[in-house]
Amino acid sequence: MVYNRKDGWYRKAKQEGFRSRAAYKLEELDRRAQLFTRGDKVLDLGCAPGGWLQFAAKKVGPRGRVVGIDRLEMKPLPELQQVQILLGDITEAESLERLREALGGPADVVLSDMAPDTSGVGFTDHMRSLELVRLAFETSLVLLKPGGTFAAKIFDGPDLEDLVKDIKARFGKTRRIRPEATRKGSRELYLVATRFKPA
Ligand SMILES: C[S@@+](CC[C@H](N)C(=O)[O-])C[C@H]1O[C@@H](n2cnc3c(N)ncnc32)[C@H](O)[C@@H]1O
Repeated sequence: MVYNRKDGWYRKAKQEGFRSRAAYKLEELDRRAQLFTRGDKVLDLGCAPGGWLQFAAKKVGPRGRVVGIDRLEMKPLPELQQVQILLGDITEAESLERLREALGGPADVVLSDMAPDTSGVGFTDHMRSLELVRLAFETSLVLLKPGGTFAAKIFDGPDLEDLVKDIKARFGKTRRIRPEATRKGSRELYLVATRFKPA
């Protein structure tokens, strides 16, 4: 898809010191669904280039903890001491243990803004994105504390409903939000699931 990278959200992010326009999507999710409390432990899957890390760090404050992972190397955020960034691929088994250790206790919030590399074939891309969301969901099952929150980017498509059903079964409330900062024509939206119920 052709889009103007330097649109209003991009410029706003630059002016306000956020590493990505994606920060405004998280801001809207938080405004509408109250994701964060000061002192929270937050996990951010697919965190590069770091806009969500910056926003989450501001919300949880210096006594909170924000652990991010991405398979791409990113510039560190030394000014945010509550943030730890891991280089790794969430599809690799060892990533889960590394995340658990970095968090130092169960997470209050698990976020995923992961997106697959697109092949251009709509169905293949949809299936890849579903796999990533399922992986993020499975990670939340292991690392979230009871009552915790899971928010993930999803792409609308034919097989989404089975996954949403599985997520709904483990959380007290789920809702879908399409933030204003989402590009026009994009099929992405966010699923926000609150009140995690461990098995
Ligand atoms: C849309 S970007 C995230 C933007 C981020 N929320 C921000 O505010 O800057 C999606 C990220 O997911 C990462 N990603 C995709 N698949 C991944 C995987 N299997 N493991 C780790 N990271 C992954 C990509 O490398 C990419 O950096």
